[in-house]
Amino acid sequence: MTETLDIKITKTTHSRLAETDFDNLPFGKTFSDHMFVADYADGEWKNLQVIPYGEIGLSPAISALHYGQAFFEGLKAYKHADGKVTIFRPDKNAIRFNKSAERLCMPTLPEEIFLQSMATVVDIDRDWIPTKANHALYIRPFMFATDPYLGVTPSSTYKYMVLTGPVGPYFSKTLRVKIETYYTRAAEGGMGFAKAAGNYGSSMLPARKATEEGFDQLIWTDAKEHKYIEEMGAANAMFLLDGKLITAEAKDTILDGVTRDTVIALAKEWGIPVETRKVSVAEIIEGAKNGKLTDAFGAGTAATIASVGSISVDGEEYFLSDPKNREFSQKVLATLDAVKYGNAPDTYGWNY
Ligand code: COI
Repeated sequence: MTETLDIKITKTTHSRLAETDFDNLPFGKTFSDHMFVADYADGEWKNLQVIPYGEIGLSPAISALHYGQAFFEGLKAYKHADGKVTIFRPDKNAIRFNKSAERLCMPTLPEEIFLQSMATVVDIDRDWIPTKANHALYIRPFMFATDPYLGVTPSSTYKYMVLTGPVGPYFSKTLRVKIETYYTRAAEGGMGFAKAAGNYGSSMLPARKATEEGFDQLIWTDAKEHKYIEEMGAANAMFLLDGKLITAEAKDTILDGVTRDTVIALAKEWGIPVETRKVSVAEIIEGAKNGKLTDAFGAGTAATIASVGSISVDGEEYFLSDPKNREFSQKVLATLDAVKYGNAPDTYGWNY
């Protein structure tokens, strides 16, 4: 049953909308007028509020800063031609949000608070939703520990917040990716499946090294042997090999992506065999060499479907077909856009 939550709303007296350049929206730099905030203390979520976007005061001793009890989610809201606004599959993110919370020894959040917090800020800032193709309102819910205490122990207080902002595509070009065979993103028993802030922090040095070598993204491999493909960090890695959709199985080292799940559902509907399993670097390179690797892309909320143009490993670069001619990913992209922007029936009930 849906209960209406008591959310206190304080609107801004100065909207920044008119001074925002909607023709220039680099990912994650523009924030809408309002944000959601709630506090966890004494074992419950309270003070549910929408307030103007801006700085918040915090103790420099909060444990999120020192020990990394912090995680986030990413979703998008779309504006349809008739003005209706929908959020794509937030129920999936709600589940993953609480998996992250549990792994980091943080309190879970009732699904109703997750959904209504986003629905409320998106509704108030609906004029911030871009209408251009490939554009959306990015939604960033997150939680962090707020006890001002330097003991290494789970905090007893937390904040849950939601920021939103208009975005274009996260990647603006076809990706030149490098298979990482030294650094590790996640190990078995670790927290790779959680959207822990620390997972992203630890990826930055290897990613910067790859950027310096001219690559756009890394493909992470397993921690033990560096022989199996895991994910791309900002997206799941998916391949069409020998006519089958292949991607690493969702396990404790891999983020169970919402776009990944959506692509799998579409492939199954279209009669394409799907294999979620260990994907070896060797078979992907072999496929790139013999032409059986007909598609390769990153799938993510921010990334949407980001085409991989070449894959490098151990200093060798393997080039794939022109993304414009890739039947599968082009069809996925077109189908997803049609559903998200309300131009096709939402047969799976993905639009909230
Ligand atoms: C998302 O797709 O929402 C993500 O979380 C990727 C992000 C780190 C840019």
